[in-house]
Amino acid sequence: AQEIETAPLGNAAELEQFRIAYIGRKGLIAALFEDMKQVAPEQRREVGQQLNSLKNRAQERFDQAQEQLTNTTESVSSNNFDFTLPTVPNTLGTRHPLSIARNEIVRIFERIGFNLSEGPEIEDDWHNFSALNFPENHPAREMQDTFFISQDRDKLLRTHTSNVQVRLMENQKPPLRSIMPGRVYRNEAISARAHMMFHQVEGLYVDKNVSFADLKQTLYYFAQEMFGQDTKIRFRPSFFPFTEPSAEIDITCLICKGEGCNICKGTGWVEIGGSGMVDPAVLESCGIDPKEYSGFAFGMGIERITMLKYQIRDLRLFTENDVRFLRQFEGIL
Ligand code: PHE
Repeated sequence: AQEIETAPLGNAAELEQFRIAYIGRKGLIAALFEDMKQVAPEQRREVGQQLNSLKNRAQERFDQAQEQLTNTTESVSSNNFDFTLPTVPNTLGTRHPLSIARNEIVRIFERIGFNLSEGPEIEDDWHNFSALNFPENHPAREMQDTFFISQDRDKLLRTHTSNVQVRLMENQKPPLRSIMPGRVYRNEAISARAHMMFHQVEGLYVDKNVSFADLKQTLYYFAQEMFGQDTKIRFRPSFFPFTEPSAEIDITCLICKGEGCNICKGTGWVEIGGSGMVDPAVLESCGIDPKEYSGFAFGMGIERITMLKYQIRDLRLFTENDVRFLRQFEGIL
């Protein structure tokens, strides 16, 4: 017992020596157990207990010494650490260009009193179509390349963010002034110009005496803030079931400044979305009296706006997650 308490255990070699001499299969303690045979039966119990505690104590000292040794080894190597070495560079991620554009759009509209709203991407027929004045069983439901997700065609992936307009008007009283960005889905083949999943930002303004002039001025302000002060805007007559009158929104091409290039196909103008005065039938569907209130609405493509702003030529870049593309947006919030 004395030996076990005092045997040196300062390094790996001493540790190994200790193990062989005392704990190992051919060590002293094993030999003592062997000798038990010669102990008188009435003493075996007591001797056995003593031997066991000797064995445990030896193991304990060994384990402690081993643990200490590993710790010292580690601290020795950390003493060798060169604190003057430069660190491994910590690469921060970048914000996705679509998020950058979305945030910028929201900020621009917030400055003129629009708040932010969101709605579900899985929608029912009422909020995506019927409340928006799409006639029952009208081919428009097909024309929008809808992904239906229930047999009865009542559950679908929203084809536009206009569903949020409906939800807003159903749940809140005018005046309403809201900007509603989000993801939308259409069953289209993926190409440089189209995707089955993309983003829109909807705008809705409902109050007393809202006019088409308000719509024009609002979008003109937006275009100038987003794309620069020389940006001009133009409205082309169009049709949507939920607005009357309706207009397509064009801005002057940022690349050629209206001179004509391959981005704008020589016209000097590029389309960024649709707009119009909220159809009285839609106001009524949502419980707002069209005799008291009027409103305008617009919906713009966020991919389209981002591509124009950053001169991105292929929509697929947004979903490929190629870091060579994403890193170009480093530091932009
Ligand atoms: N929802 C239409 C679309 O997806 C855009 C739009 C929104 C048009 C609001 C007019 C008013 O094409």
